[in-house]
This record gives sequence, C-alpha cells and structure tokens, in this order.
Amino acid sequence: MTLFKQCCQVLDDNWLGTFSVPSRGLYPFLWNWDSGFHALGWLHHRPERALIEMETLFSAQWKNGMLPHILFFDYEKYDTYFPSADYWQSSVSSQANQTVPSSGITQPPIHGIVLEKMYQSGLDRSRIKTLTKKAIGYHEYLQAERSHAESGLLFVVHNWESGLDNSVIWDETFARISPTEYSNITFQRKDVHQVQNSTETRPTDQDYKRYLYLLKLLQQNQFGRPKTGYPFLILEPVFNSIYLISGRSLIRLGTALGIETDSIKAQVSKIESSFDQWLWDDNAQFYYPYDLHASRQIRKAYFGNIFPIAAQLPDKELVGKMIERYSGPDLTPIPSVLPSEKGFEEKKYWRGPVWININWMMIQGFLDYDMPDKASWLKEESINLVKKMGLYEYFTPYRSISSGGGYGGKDFSWTSALIMDLIKDNRI
Ligand code: GLC
Repeated sequence: MTLFKQCCQVLDDNWLGTFSVPSRGLYPFLWNWDSGFHALGWLHHRPERALIEMETLFSAQWKNGMLPHILFFDYEKYDTYFPSADYWQSSVSSQANQTVPSSGITQPPIHGIVLEKMYQSGLDRSRIKTLTKKAIGYHEYLQAERSHAESGLLFVVHNWESGLDNSVIWDETFARISPTEYSNITFQRKDVHQVQNSTETRPTDQDYKRYLYLLKLLQQNQFGRPKTGYPFLILEPVFNSIYLISGRSLIRLGTALGIETDSIKAQVSKIESSFDQWLWDDNAQFYYPYDLHASRQIRKAYFGNIFPIAAQLPDKELVGKMIERYSGPDLTPIPSVLPSEKGFEEKKYWRGPVWININWMMIQGFLDYDMPDKASWLKEESINLVKKMGLYEYFTPYRSISSGGGYGGKDFSWTSALIMDLIKDNRI
C-alpha cells in the first residue's frame, strides 16, 4: 500500500460519523486543533468530511465564542480518557454550550488557515461562509478573554490550552506553585494504560496534579477571564503566531465572502507590532515565551524560538541562520526541545520529540517567504520520518535511532492528514 493510502486508511478508521478522533483509545473524543488538521487531510480524500468535521467542532461553540479544546461526545461510552466531561463540568459556566459537554479552555486557533484551504479547494461557499463567521466570533472571544491589555498579545491560562502540553517552557511557572496547594488533588490516570512505555512517554503524576490544580482554579472562576493572582498567564510565541496566520486568512476570506473583519484587522496589527517587544530577544536572536506573573521571558531552547517563521515575523535574511542554530548534527528537524536544554527527554511528548503538525506549519511559512528549497527539505524529512517509523503521534529527534522511534498514539490522525497534504502539495 502506498503511504498516501495508508494515511487515508488511518483517517477512515478514526472517523466516528461526524468527526475523527486523534487516536482510538488514547484520545477518544474530538480535540479542537486536531480536527482542524484532520480537515486538511480530508480535502484530499473525502472533501465533504472536511466540512462536516469543522461543522461538528463549531456546533459546540460557547455563547461567548469560545471553542473548547475537547468535546466529549457520547462520553458515557468511552472510558479510556481522564479528565473527562464529569471532571471538567463545563456547565458551571453560563456561557457553555448547552448540548455538548466540553473542557473549559481552548487550543491554538488554526481554523482560519483550515477554512481558507477549504475555500481554495472549491467546497460549498455558503457553508464556508457560515463557518468563517463563527471563526471570527472565536477570534473576538480570544481578544475579549485572552488578550493582555498592554501588548494585545494573547496569553494561555493552562498548558493544555497551548497544545504543547508538557513542554519544558511551563516548568518554571509550575515550580513556583507550592505543592501544598495541590496536595489534596486525587485522580485516576487512564492515558498510562493506552500507550507502551508510559513512564517514558507520558507526563508524571506530579505533573498531572498541577494540571488539575489549574483546572480547578479555572472551574471555580466559571472558566471566565482569570482574576488577579491566577498563577499561569503566559504569552506564548507559537499560540500567537498561529493566531496571526489564521487572522490573516480570516481577513482574506472576509474580503472574498463579503464579511466584515475590522475587529480582526485591528487585533492582528496590534499583535504584529508588539510581538518583538515582548517575545524577541535581540542578543539571542530567538523568540521566547513571556510569563506575565513573573514579569520575565522564559528562556528555554524549544521550537517556539523559531516558530514565528511560520507567521513570517523575522526578517527573511534571519531565517536560514535561525534554523541552522536550532538544529544539531544527529537531529531530525524540528525537535520540540533541543537536547542541550535542561528537561529535554527524547521520548516524552513535547519535551524533545518531532511533531508533524509543527513541521507542516513551518513548511507553509517557508512557502510564504518564497523559500521553496527549505520547504522541500522539511517536507522530505517529514515524509522520510513516517516512512521509517510509522504514522505515530510523535517521533524521536535522534537520527541514529533506526527503528522503534515512533511514540504515543499509533495510527495518529493529524500525522496522517498532514502527510497526505504534503504528498499532494504540488508547490514543493
Ligand atoms: C495531546 C497534545 C495536544 C493534542 C491532543 C490530542 O494532548 O499535547 O496538542 O491536541 O494530544 O491529540
């Protein structure tokens, strides 16, 4: 079977009728940014499903525009994930969607990017128009509830909100929270039974306690805009870059479909103009997250150092050097954390491994810069990686490991969907 066919097979197997799960067992519900990536794969296989998957996601939008990070459809039927609907209790918020139980936080806003690709592929304009209006409402929610007054940049209120669940960039912030604050949190993990080598690949119980502690604080605040003193408010370059790329797509879609986008235009230019002031370090020539509670940058060697390339933020002349400096002789691009960083772990989630969605977004950025050689290079590296390792959730960054370097969920939907898009991309 060709690689493309294998990818189609994964998407077909993970389809539940109105959306696809990221991976059966490990992630049995709908995840927000995953579904956006899935739609990009469906465009090359069963395009109607791209529309259906996005419509399912937006059907659960909250009254205030929030688009939750997990939608717990039929949650009584699926017992392999924690924390599920009963733990989140999204209904404590008066803004919550009445029909679909969900988490109370969001995930990186990639929907504009996806809707623009769907539009370009010639799918039904009126359905795309409806979705675009909803995506604009979601961006307006982010402006209202997640934007830092001084800079306009967006903060995340939970590590799960960033999509980069247990990255090293959260370590310092979590270390400042006293363990006595979360000592009475008890829980039963389920993820550890769904993967092999879970102690090496999944977060620790101590990590989970901290995640659930934040969840409880947010829940006590009915998942509203955090009050003064809330310990986790971080301006993160990847989240903000994705917001910008999507925002620009929504503006173009607005023009094409006759929808007013003034609020999005204003926010996009505000973020563009303050990005460097808060998140760029001119000495290091890298980007870093900014911890609003500690009033300082989080200086870790993770892929967010270079990710704003995807949003064409650094000058084109800097791009080659930045990529070169964020690499190593034995490393497959792009590791989520460099081995030289304290806290790097080869097999653990966002603490070292390579992710195909990150590579895919960087490839789009290279194309936007008109750097087709770089785009082809990263496309080839990504395709070779899955050919060697399989369609896993994430991969060892070490080239010297020749087999068994695929980790986390097996037959993972976004890996498959984005590889399909790369195979079919005739620009590179
Ligand atoms: C993990 C990832 C997150 C993703 C989810 C489902 O939690 O960190 O980004 O959305 O899995 O695939």
